[in-house]
Amino acid sequence: MKTAASPGAAAGRRASPGAAAGLQARAAELREAISYHNDRYYNAAEPEIPDADYDALVDELRALEAEHPELAVAGSPTEQVGAPITTLFAPAAHKVPMMSLDKVVNMDELLAWGRRLERLLEMAPEDAAALRFVCEPKIDGLSISITYEHGELVRAATRGDGRVGEDVTQNVRTIGEVPARLELPPGEIPTEIEVRGEVYLPLAAFEELNARQQAAGLRLFANPRNAAAGSLRQRDPSITASRALGLWAYQVVSADVLAQGTRVEAAGEGDAAAELTNQSGSLELLRRAGFPVNGETALVTGLDAVYAYCADLQERRHSLGYEIDGAVVKLDDISLHRSLGATSHAPRWAVAYKFPPEERTTLLEDILVSIGRTGRATPFARLRPVRVGGSTVSLASLHNEDQVALKDVRPGDTVIVRKAGDVIPEVVGPVLSMRPEGVLPWRFPSECPLCGGQLVRLEGEADTYCVNFDCPGQKVQRVAHFASRSAMDIEGLGEQRVAQLIDAGVIGDAADFYDVRADDLYGLEGFGEISARNLVAAIDASRKRPLPNLLVALGIRHVGSTVAQALADGFGDLDHIMAASEEELASVEGIGPVIAASVAHFFASGANLAFVERLRGGGVSFGTRAVSELPRLLEGKSVVVTGTLAGWSREEAEAAITGRGGKSPGSVSARTTAVVVGSSPGGAKLARAKELGVPILDEAGLAKLLETGELPG
Ligand code: IVH
Repeated sequence: MKTAASPGAAAGRRASPGAAAGLQARAAELREAISYHNDRYYNAAEPEIPDADYDALVDELRALEAEHPELAVAGSPTEQVGAPITTLFAPAAHKVPMMSLDKVVNMDELLAWGRRLERLLEMAPEDAAALRFVCEPKIDGLSISITYEHGELVRAATRGDGRVGEDVTQNVRTIGEVPARLELPPGEIPTEIEVRGEVYLPLAAFEELNARQQAAGLRLFANPRNAAAGSLRQRDPSITASRALGLWAYQVVSADVLAQGTRVEAAGEGDAAAELTNQSGSLELLRRAGFPVNGETALVTGLDAVYAYCADLQERRHSLGYEIDGAVVKLDDISLHRSLGATSHAPRWAVAYKFPPEERTTLLEDILVSIGRTGRATPFARLRPVRVGGSTVSLASLHNEDQVALKDVRPGDTVIVRKAGDVIPEVVGPVLSMRPEGVLPWRFPSECPLCGGQLVRLEGEADTYCVNFDCPGQKVQRVAHFASRSAMDIEGLGEQRVAQLIDAGVIGDAADFYDVRADDLYGLEGFGEISARNLVAAIDASRKRPLPNLLVALGIRHVGSTVAQALADGFGDLDHIMAASEEELASVEGIGPVIAASVAHFFASGANLAFVERLRGGGVSFGTRAVSELPRLLEGKSVVVTGTLAGWSREEAEAAITGRGGKSPGSVSARTTAVVVGSSPGGAKLARAKELGVPILDEAGLAKLLETGELPG
């Protein structure tokens, strides 16, 4: 199986004989690949490639068959849904086929779908504008059909190939959210009703399951969908029962709502399902009958509102607690479902609005090693650029030697790349069936790629280090760190600029910044008179940075912004910190023995003390703030400030909080005591505070809190 997932050469309408043979071969190759991946997905419940790559294969084959009808063959995977069933479970034929959904990926395609509805329903545009749609999250789990007779659960089946699924009744009975009996008044119980929905694993349960798997030395599941499928398709229902599976019910199939026309059985007397005329009513019935119906579902009018729903859901997709891969848009009016019917694989009355994929495959071109400011050598992947999670990814960290071995990724592999939301891109693992022959495991280099010095991995540690303090790679990183935002914040000094200044001999280390004159810069590549003067001014401004910034800039192990703030609060200036013993350091709130030892160790080094003295000579402020003698009214409290306050700068407000023993972090969590909101606050912080029910204060509320230590009543 070595079929590239990317679409092949564009198919021309009238192909030459040679090209025709090529197209035929490509179609055969695509069919083979699709069947193989169907089997991995549906039968082994262990797909090898992301859905988006699978979809690309199907899309390519579908386009090829549409352009060249002579290439279409009976039983092509483009006509099928899912995969043939296995022998693990008894077959269960679906009375109404379980279909797939056509997809759209943007507003234009959504509007084109709308125009098709308008045409098929022979509607005037103004009537079409009044069409109502039910919008639902597209749950990334596996679809299930559950049949009730006279209100009792009698059968549950997976989708299988859409016509015949697997009988998983015993397993589905163990899912707590699936009612064993419909909770409807006796008069409303239908003779027979089929409920369809998605079995899924909530993210928290997925993480817990993988933690258990790891502890037991068992294989980890790649994602919640695979874990849900693996959990449902168990021979032993007690295993399914232990997996915290959930259900979202989203469709009713009963005698009178068969979009495909075949009557299952006459509806019973007073049958609630028989009276269903719209999808929103179906969901309401499901809710009343005791099924979980997703709360993100909405009934809207017109495609603009549908699009707004999809865009909003996409924004929030990572805060739902379960994975979704899009929205499903369904015409509300069930009579229209009947008029529209279905194609060979999908109904015409519904469409999936798919979100941009968060996993794709690409080529791992090489594994390289970068050197950080502490000398840590981090392996990273150089990837053939791929669009994933809304951006183009060409680099991804592989963290350390063990991670590379554990994932068994090798240069030359096709790998799965994942980028979800704001999370940094990750190489998930290789697609083993696509590994070319002769590809060897990667070995950690024994020499630093930048200075040629030895790379050392200490016994019991995960990381490998370049131990040459003069390594140019480390030096650039150290100096760039010194100039960075949370440190001395020297504008315009990124990694490349720093490397340039070191190479040109303008600076040897960060303390040299304070001797740089505009003349030294003028004439260097990229420096004109103005930019040279600007950089000197930016360096000058950094002389007055507050003490915590200076502490961060020194690059002491374990000293980030929070610890630096605690040290500054505890000692007031750098001289007192340098003079403090390990015990005195550890007596400060927020400083534990490890940090205290690290700080003491740093200032015990002659080289470091010499560096600090050069900074003093260069005019850098060592902090003058008196140690806080304010009452520690906010001890144990955490107060977040967002937006602009009239009477205080953000720094002043935060200092007033920390000066009284409180914390003032940059983000809101369940442990936040209160959020102080000024004008133009950060939307995310405010929204999170509201979501978590954290008290929100205005400026007067802050003043009260500072004075009394209590939240205003
Ligand atoms: S409706 C014929 N609603 O998406 C109607 N499907 O790509 C199809 N899915 O097989 C089902 N959430 O497994 C529907 N709210 C939802 C859904 C949903 C997830 C899955 C389902 C289906 C697949 C179609």
